[in-house]
Amino acid sequence: MNILLVGSGGREHALAWKIARSPLLERLVIAPGNPGMARLGELRAIKPTDVDALTACAREIRADLVVVGPEAALDAGLADRLASVGIACFGPSRRAARLETSKAFAKAFMERHDIPTAAYGVYDRLKDAKAALDVFRPPYVLKADGLAAGKGVVISADRREARSELEDIFGGRFGAAGARVVIEEFMTGEEGSLFALSDGRHAMLLGGAQDHKRAFDGDLGPNTGGMGAYSPAPVFDADTVEAARTRIVEPTIAAMNAEGCPYRGVLYAGLMVGEEGPRVVEFNARFGDPECQVLMMRMESDLVPYLLACARGGLERLPEPVFSPQAGIVVVLAAKGYPDSPLEGSIIRGAEQDFGEGVQVFHAGTRRRPDGTLIAAGGRVLNVCAVGDSLAEARARAYRAVRAIDWPGGFHRSDIGWRALARDEGSDSA
Ligand code: AMP
Ligand code: GLY
Repeated sequence: MNILLVGSGGREHALAWKIARSPLLERLVIAPGNPGMARLGELRAIKPTDVDALTACAREIRADLVVVGPEAALDAGLADRLASVGIACFGPSRRAARLETSKAFAKAFMERHDIPTAAYGVYDRLKDAKAALDVFRPPYVLKADGLAAGKGVVISADRREARSELEDIFGGRFGAAGARVVIEEFMTGEEGSLFALSDGRHAMLLGGAQDHKRAFDGDLGPNTGGMGAYSPAPVFDADTVEAARTRIVEPTIAAMNAEGCPYRGVLYAGLMVGEEGPRVVEFNARFGDPECQVLMMRMESDLVPYLLACARGGLERLPEPVFSPQAGIVVVLAAKGYPDSPLEGSIIRGAEQDFGEGVQVFHAGTRRRPDGTLIAAGGRVLNVCAVGDSLAEARARAYRAVRAIDWPGGFHRSDIGWRALARDEGSDSA
């Protein structure tokens, strides 16, 4: 099979690594990819939003399947265009991707179908949003409606702060994404990311992970796209997963189909697990980054038949995918200054050595200079992944590899996995 993979982050490097191991693969083309992916396929310098060029590339290589990594490509309508020329695509249509690209759409959808989530209101005017602060109680959860690179959520402790945040958002802090604002009830509990595949009609769970969104140790500092993750996540015990499957994942796939908007691809449900069971914090229309990296490290089944079935139908005919019982972890190495203003161009040494058993380093924002030197070219730059018989072992392996990488221009969190490890220490099974 010929496959075109779209994207350039750590998520896509992990997908490329996994796809490249499939016996079904003949040719892998990656657009635009990154230096770490160059060994796995042919790189083409095409932006994920350049739908014309991506479609032309898919035709030229006679792609049997296009795998879309980032939401920007979905929002640009890549899946729709590919459908119109008869090329199978893993990734939802633009309308189906509204589960991620419009928080107002996602909230109304969940309300229509009784899918558990926080109470909310949608506001197009600053005046109305401020008035709504009377209805909600602190802390106030304020969300820009549109795509804001994972940064469009503000949680304000009190009224005064919330009012000034609303002024900022309507004033354009998130650009057009903030022209409409969703205010939500604050949910308590523990968060986790649950992934499910769908061919538009059937859903199949792919497992869970927990990420660390704050920049610094102890869950402090600004929100980021994710500084690390691990899987499995103890928050997803069997009852919670069953509740999420029957009350959230399956009803979502069924209702999208019933609304004439079949959802094909991976559904990422960000869940808050509290006393009343799992509730939806947000949906994403793609794999999580860096959660995808640990899922791919742990997945034993060939990924390609699943991606193809999502695109073409017939997911129900495949067996449940097999995952290693081992624990997986990913530690993100980010450029100093991330997320606000990451420093570009610093030299990275030692990232491409053999790190030994159970360890993989996936690239994200890297660039190779003509002399071969690897440099930082983005916020999140490297993903150091490891598996082990326990989370503690996986973590020890990952941090050993982190220490072997010489990159003074970067930083990382040193406590990835703390929540699960604290549970282990507190339990009899430790
Ligand atoms: P989102 O981009 O919607 O996932 O929001 C970013 C983060 O804000 C989430 O990971 C949560 O930690 C937090 N958050 C969002 N919505 C809520 C909510 N309704 N209640 C509590 N925390 C929330
Ligand atoms: N790690 C969070 C996300 O991919 O949105």
